[in-house]
Amino acid sequence: MDIPRVTLNTGAQMPQFGLGTWKLTGEDCVRAVPVALEMGYDHIDTADVYGNHREIAPALRDVDRDSIWITSKVNRGSLRYDDVLATCEKNLGELEVDYLDLYLIHWPDPEAPMEETFRALARLVDEGMTRNIGVSNFMVEHLTEALAVAEAPIVNNQIKFNPAHQPWDVVELCREHDIAVTAYSPLMHGDAPENATLQAIAEEMGRTPAQVALRWLLQQDMIVIPKATSEEHLRENMDIFDWELTPQLDQRIRALA
Ligand SMILES: NC(=O)c1ccc[n+]([C@@H]2O[C@H](COP(=O)([O-])OP(=O)(O)OC[C@H]3O[C@@H](n4cnc5c(N)ncnc54)[C@H](OP(=O)(O)O)[C@@H]3O)[C@@H](O)[C@H]2O)c1
Repeated sequence: MDIPRVTLNTGAQMPQFGLGTWKLTGEDCVRAVPVALEMGYDHIDTADVYGNHREIAPALRDVDRDSIWITSKVNRGSLRYDDVLATCEKNLGELEVDYLDLYLIHWPDPEAPMEETFRALARLVDEGMTRNIGVSNFMVEHLTEALAVAEAPIVNNQIKFNPAHQPWDVVELCREHDIAVTAYSPLMHGDAPENATLQAIAEEMGRTPAQVALRWLLQQDMIVIPKATSEEHLRENMDIFDWELTPQLDQRIRALA
């Protein structure tokens, strides 16, 4: 199965679909990540604060590092210059890899000067510790400030976006600046299957509500990172590339906001 790529403003090709790993910890994580990679997942989304880098690492030992996209994030509270460098170095050690594909500021932090954080991120790029940098949970005011101070290109903004939560103003600003959008919590934290509209569309399409939510986000040109633990969910979430929602169905989901 070919997972589509999004071309970032650095020229990097980011898989448009990946495995979210928030709350995927311990044995569940050790078991699920290799199952996902075996299935064809080639993009893992993690973060310093998820505390699961060491559980992801074993799955990465047996694969060609260059064939997997790894995103991690530095948390607020660690956004001063030296803290960013030290956290990234720690994260690389935990994951047992030499570089990240993408390192994000997890949340904006008014306590840390943004210019200082971006100076540290640019250094990580210069030193080859990450190939791209970006942000997460940056709303319009945060992104506007970031664009004014960032030394290296901001390639990605990872925000909560799903049928029930549609902050289009941030998406529009990202598009103006050629910043790719990753939709987190794409399954509404697991509530997508209970949504009546998604259920009705799923029935019409012969799909599941989770697949309808993910497919809809792909059609908005967003990157999706559903979290799943069971083999059944992992497989179901991947089956979204060879069918389409009509413009009418797209509008019905937009109207859920
Ligand atoms: N940047 C940020 O601040 C931020 C914040 C939140 C999330 N994220 C990222 O985004 C990822 C996804 O978001 P999320 O974890 O909040 O929630 P989500 O992906 O919207 O939903 C995950 C939940 O949906 C269930 N699920 C998965 N596939 C399913 C299916 N096909 N049918 C029914 N239920 C299904 C999972 O259950 P099982 O696990 O039991 O399969 C889990 O309970 C995170 O893991 C993380 O990587 C980033």
